[in-house]
Amino acid sequence: MVILNSISRRSAHVARTVTLRSLSVLTPSEAGRRAAAMMAERQAKDPSAIATILSHSGMDAKGDNIPMAPPLHVATTYTRPADGIYRDGDSVYARMDNPTRLQLEKAIFELECINLAGREDKAITSYAFSSGLAGVTSILLAHSSPLTVLLPDDLYHGVSSLLSNVFSKHRVNARHVNMRDVSEIVKAIQSVNSNDDVIVWMESPSNPKCHVLDIQSICQAVEPLRSSYTITTVVDGTMASPILTRPLELGADVSFHSGTKYLAGHSDALLGLVTLSPVTSRGHELVSAMNDAQILGGAVASPFDSWLTLRGMRTLHVRVERQCKTTQQLVEYLEKQKEQMKIIHLYYPGLISHQQHDVAKRQMQGGFGGVFSMEFDDEATAMAFAAALQTVHRATSLGGPETLIEHRASIEPPERRTSPPGLLRVSIGLEDINDLIRDFEMAAGIAQEIVK
Ligand SMILES: Cc1ncc(COP(=O)(O)O)c(C=O)c1O
Repeated sequence: MVILNSISRRSAHVARTVTLRSLSVLTPSEAGRRAAAMMAERQAKDPSAIATILSHSGMDAKGDNIPMAPPLHVATTYTRPADGIYRDGDSVYARMDNPTRLQLEKAIFELECINLAGREDKAITSYAFSSGLAGVTSILLAHSSPLTVLLPDDLYHGVSSLLSNVFSKHRVNARHVNMRDVSEIVKAIQSVNSNDDVIVWMESPSNPKCHVLDIQSICQAVEPLRSSYTITTVVDGTMASPILTRPLELGADVSFHSGTKYLAGHSDALLGLVTLSPVTSRGHELVSAMNDAQILGGAVASPFDSWLTLRGMRTLHVRVERQCKTTQQLVEYLEKQKEQMKIIHLYYPGLISHQQHDVAKRQMQGGFGGVFSMEFDDEATAMAFAAALQTVHRATSLGGPETLIEHRASIEPPERRTSPPGLLRVSIGLEDINDLIRDFEMAAGIAQEIVK
């Protein structure tokens, strides 16, 4: 029965092909081939929009009957041909060239460079790691020491801890600079010993205070100093995701993301993504050292996490757009209720009152992100507010489909605590805005009762 069905379906298809053939000079396969050639030519001049590229993430297999989800390759090793010589494109060993990870690296490279002039025909210089911090570690390992790393005054605390707990033992110095003032960065570089390599480590928006750095102005200001110093400009764009900010297009040498957050997007994968600029000299210079840091350092992204991230990327644009919209609505609501809710400060670049709102408007495309922070007078009120929330979950991390709230000071190491005790960071998910407003409103009321 099944066989008969499939035969009759096949003969119907053949009959249709014959009819089409008799009506036109082109067979369907010829039409397909001709259209593919025309499209390739057009796309070379005018690439598809970001939404189209992302919707097809990981699915660039060619031919008929291709799978609509990328394959998950789990093998760690592959047979060698009988003559002992691997052919171009052969896989060897999972740490070196797992095909699912390579597919993810290709997808992130296309996304990071979508509007980057001069990227055409450049080799893929994206690297996927087993966590965001493994990516940060590998960027540092790709540099020579002595090395000075200039850090902004607000950033993800794990990066500062990695530098002071681990890299300080390896002739790596870290210094905090107010990077919202570009001249401070220039002064800081000029005071570095000229034997040192220098990394200008930007994070925009910053975690948790949502500072926005003017990436393009910083990269331009650093340029004249390159004749005296070996400088790498790096941007941690985790909080923006490549939808809102693409640092390589703004002149940075390296773009970094904790893929654990928006890119994977479902709170179920841990990985880091590093892309070297294919158009800056410093980007080129780092390629061989980054390859070594990834393959010999060995902290590669697993096939399954790579696969989950490719799947996440297919909806990244839609999720981020919605998260930006909900966050803007909620923060504007909270701003109006600030006094009543006893909120003393709101940190979000989408607010006109935010100090770098103009920079954010220019630099961030289509929204101001899905993370904001709110500050109460003291820790007790902040903790009571978080405890009273019902729709929102208390958990660290950000960028997933569920809204999370986090008391930052208590997760930061005591010796490097920079978050005020009353600060709560919120990562907005995909819930309905009215449910979130109701939850925040109720929690604010209850928190005031509890701390009285
Ligand atoms: C801005 C930022 N950078 C880097 C990281 C580290 O990423 P991972 O946790 O994937 O190692 C985080 C983690 O929260 C982060 O928020």
